[in-house]
Amino acid sequence: MKDLKNEIVDILSKKDIGLSEDEIYDLIEIPPNQDMGDFSIPCFTLAKKFRKNPAIIAKELKEGIESKYFEKIDNVNAYLNFYVNKNYFEKEVLNEILDKKLDYGRSDMGNGKNIIIEYSSPNIAKPFHIGHIRTTIIGDVLKRIYKFLGYNTIAINYIGDYGTQFGIMIAAYKLWGDDDKINKDPINELLNLYVKYNAEAEKNPEMMDDARDYFNKLENGDEEATKLWNWFKDISLREFERVYKLLDVEFDNFHGEAYNSKWIPDVIEELKEKNLLIEDDGAYIVDLKKYDLTPAIIIKSNGSSTYLTRDIATAINRKREYDFNKNIYVVATQQNLHFKQLKKVLELMGYDFFDDCIHIGFGMVSMKDGVMSTRKGKVIFLEDVLNKSIEKTLNIIEERKTDLENKEEIAKIVGIGAVKFQELYNSRIKDYVFDWDEVLNFDGETGPYVQYTYARAKSILRKAEFNEDQAKGDFEFDKLTTDEEYTLIKSLQSFKDTLVRAKDKCEPSFVTRKVTEIAANFNRYYNSSPILVDDPDLRNQRVLLTYATSIVIKLGLSLLGIDTVEKM
Ligand code: ARG
Repeated sequence: MKDLKNEIVDILSKKDIGLSEDEIYDLIEIPPNQDMGDFSIPCFTLAKKFRKNPAIIAKELKEGIESKYFEKIDNVNAYLNFYVNKNYFEKEVLNEILDKKLDYGRSDMGNGKNIIIEYSSPNIAKPFHIGHIRTTIIGDVLKRIYKFLGYNTIAINYIGDYGTQFGIMIAAYKLWGDDDKINKDPINELLNLYVKYNAEAEKNPEMMDDARDYFNKLENGDEEATKLWNWFKDISLREFERVYKLLDVEFDNFHGEAYNSKWIPDVIEELKEKNLLIEDDGAYIVDLKKYDLTPAIIIKSNGSSTYLTRDIATAINRKREYDFNKNIYVVATQQNLHFKQLKKVLELMGYDFFDDCIHIGFGMVSMKDGVMSTRKGKVIFLEDVLNKSIEKTLNIIEERKTDLENKEEIAKIVGIGAVKFQELYNSRIKDYVFDWDEVLNFDGETGPYVQYTYARAKSILRKAEFNEDQAKGDFEFDKLTTDEEYTLIKSLQSFKDTLVRAKDKCEPSFVTRKVTEIAANFNRYYNSSPILVDDPDLRNQRVLLTYATSIVIKLGLSLLGIDTVEKM
């Protein structure tokens, strides 16, 4: 059924009030209590606009409007209040969920549109640490939501496999490398070499020249350098793969910096032709002073390309390869400046698609007990955090002394789900502190809480001896008359619109919060309304409501990349 806020938008945009649909949408409020209706439009802004008393505006707006979705539309002082026709509403919503099941809310709005989502993008031969969780999980969820809404998504892992740090790696390996050690514990050992080299180079700066030489060799296709680089890359990817598997995160390709560097010479040529490149102290830059940005360095004074140059080449090539509608970069806000420069250079080069390149930033994550810095070598590996979460969950399950059979499997689903959920709960732009007590709290606004609610719903359905065939048909829901039932159904209905808003703003937390709200509303309903009652109609309607809720929770979690368990 139609989203009710959109219905209000439609009703009001027929009136000539000089507001866009989005503006009307944003005006809609949810009144603090049901006596004042389900939705409300405050008329203060309009009053200012038309220089009229807001109460008069509210009264005028009411004239002649009606809709089958609302049983009453009323003006009270400066507000226009909408009262939903509950019985009609509940019936529409629940029958739609029972009919569509896990396709509830699926859409074809994205048909024919290519959306690149670039996420994770770790650097080769560096640890995959807790900081990487953000881009990896947020990107994965954006992909799932876009897909569900019909878009053709291309998931790219833009691995950092290029740059002077590979010169450092090779130089360090040539000095101290031990193949056995590296094969045993690749990332740690490569990291040790890297850290050691940086430390030594602080004392002997000329070591950095050696490193740069090795990188130049690599750029020029030197056999030994290339072989080592490929090896570092293979063993790193194999390590990353384990984490991606644990997280159930996949990519369509791993076209990283090296892959795209093929087009760097073309970019430089083009920048020259377009008179954008100027020499500056031996380096080549694009001057962005006019736009309040620091210069975009294209070629360093030592002749090598930069991270930015590679991104310019990548964006142009992506447009060619995928003709994207949007090219989304899920990258920390620390790189805001970089993406501003990137877009500006693309714009100056005359590429209209610069505006479809979208940087989706996010804040930092820190552990309650320490920070990370790759250069000093003190890092918290993401894989360790995930395994610890599984282990801690298993302990909790065992303490509860339940008779669950597949405890290990459940611990894995709940443990991983808990970490993901926590990651997705706050708006992405905020910094957050990773805290075990919060992540694994079964009663808070957490993954385990929502998964537990799902398992509870499934347990009620088992007690009711419900099977899915009983949910086929068109049902009456006239016996669902309590506030708790209505509130729950309202949250189920708004799930659909939440997905679209989450897509528009690239904000997975909208979905996480909606699913949490549904779980809380379900628990309130469950605590106030006995389900397995004698009245067969009431019982049946409440069982179907329970089933519909379980579907939407499962669907919501699956879009967050989180699994459910039937018992917990
Ligand atoms: N590899 C980079 C890093 O670890 C992130 C890449 C971001 N994506 C991009 N297109 N620049 O910081």
